[in-house]
Amino acid sequence: MQINNTDLTWWKQGPIYQIYPRSFLDTNGDGVGDLEGIIQKLDYLKDLGIRGIWLSPIYPSPLFDFGYDISNYHDIDPVFGSLATFKRLVTEADRRGIGIIMDMVLNHTSHLHPWFIESRSSRDNPKRDWYIWHDGKAGLFGRGYPNNWMAAFGGHAWKWDPETGQYYLHLFTEEQPDLNWRNPQVQEAMLAEMRFWLDLGVKGFRLDVINYLIKDTLFRSNPYRFRLTYPRRHDLQHHQYDRNQSETYEIIRRIRSLMDSYAGTSEATMLVGEVYPDEGVHAPDLAATYIGSGQDLLHLAFDFSTIYIQLTAADLYSVLKTWYSVLSPGAWPCHVLSNHDQSRSASRLCAGPDQEAQKRLLAALLLTQRGTPFLYYGEEIGMEDGRIGRKDLQDPLGKKYYPFHPGRDRSRTPMQWDNGSAAGFTSGKPWLPVNPDYKERNVASQERDGTSLLAWYRDLIRLRDKEPALREGAIEFVESGLAENVLAYRRETAIRRETAIRRTAAIGRGEAADEVLVVLNVSGQTRPNPFRRGGTVLLSTHRKPDSPIEYDTRLAPWECTVYR
Ligand code: GLC
Ligand code: CA
Repeated sequence: MQINNTDLTWWKQGPIYQIYPRSFLDTNGDGVGDLEGIIQKLDYLKDLGIRGIWLSPIYPSPLFDFGYDISNYHDIDPVFGSLATFKRLVTEADRRGIGIIMDMVLNHTSHLHPWFIESRSSRDNPKRDWYIWHDGKAGLFGRGYPNNWMAAFGGHAWKWDPETGQYYLHLFTEEQPDLNWRNPQVQEAMLAEMRFWLDLGVKGFRLDVINYLIKDTLFRSNPYRFRLTYPRRHDLQHHQYDRNQSETYEIIRRIRSLMDSYAGTSEATMLVGEVYPDEGVHAPDLAATYIGSGQDLLHLAFDFSTIYIQLTAADLYSVLKTWYSVLSPGAWPCHVLSNHDQSRSASRLCAGPDQEAQKRLLAALLLTQRGTPFLYYGEEIGMEDGRIGRKDLQDPLGKKYYPFHPGRDRSRTPMQWDNGSAAGFTSGKPWLPVNPDYKERNVASQERDGTSLLAWYRDLIRLRDKEPALREGAIEFVESGLAENVLAYRRETAIRRETAIRRTAAIGRGEAADEVLVVLNVSGQTRPNPFRRGGTVLLSTHRKPDSPIEYDTRLAPWECTVYR
């Protein structure tokens, strides 16, 4: 893979783009996106400037959780294509400097995976212990659940199996039985599955609910907590015993050494973990423990505090500042605003007449932070949540809790390529309805418009590519603007901290800026620039590149300006 003017490894250089493959581009008219569709859009993605693609699961699956229930870890579901198509995708992506990242669901398999079929066949089957089986608890009214653990998708986390007279554990749907990661054979078998993909040239894995792998040895009940606003019983307990057990870190170390042995160097491949805290809780410190120094655990972990933020300078500042401060010095941050499980940031955080300006602000925020930005397909054109009627619901979570929980379909609607039928996503009937706003909001129209949101994303990513300070510089916030709802920060590389002579020499050699200032007016009013320093504009929603910016300039409503 090509490396651009930096010695940063590929996943530190630029954004990783999450594709929900069912919804990206359908090339055979069955209404479901496919790998061929992704191959056809690689030039679009390269042009956008991304460095990696994280594919939500594409393995064979009976679709009880849309691919997060895997029945074979080393094949491609025919709806998406074949292993041959996949290999072509890896090669074509690699030619464009884009690494492919697979979604690895290690915590559970499908109930139709041959391992589970064997495991449930009898109590003395050699694979019995590959899953988590437990006797019922004798109680006043007969047999009871082994403990109070609840499934994320409704009901108890234990399913009674009448054939063998025991319960099995499923922290998600009952079609997703949890593996027993305390069993060394399970560890070996899963590492072998990961090797399969590394052998095909995959550059990384996104590890699904990685903090759930190991459960309490004594299977103690979780402590309860009371909250009025949560409909799921799952959210009315602290997940003290079904997540984050200390042995999980040992397993991650094993996975990391597999990755390192493959890569030759410790950063040529990448692991990014989904670390889920209790619902509604900010837990960046928890996510940080799964990265540690960055040397032997995960390379990256998502801090989902950004899912609960408000669009105010103070809130953005406090979430970002905390995230940076809990990471140890060797750790590399990453940032995410949207994914396939959450309401899209464009809908969650942006509202009213200034909505489009707010989307630009979120883009500028995400792409000028220190660390790897994650984009979710369609974010670059400002796609919003779809409104999915009851009859169109697909997500098991949405079906179970309708109408109290919106489910996740709303953020999984088809990518909006053009204003033709079904937004250019399919010639057939899309598996989820296309958002009707596709007539105005689509890639084709934004590609024609130099002032579109898409153009803004591209410009920001290009600027990041050009400016080492944005890519790898330290970040320092200026708190004085917060009261006025202005978020301002300085990004600077080490060159600046060296002597003036070395700095001049470096600039003389054509090395780009050593210090870059970012100001984001998180309000619909005109505001002062907290930097009180002038300079030259690099990129701005309101000013021309290369134009001067005065020390006492006023920022326009929702203005985003990056200057030197
Ligand atoms: C993760 C995935 C989610 C899935 C769940 C169970 O949270 O992001 O989509 O349903 O794990 O695998
Ligand atoms: Ca298809």
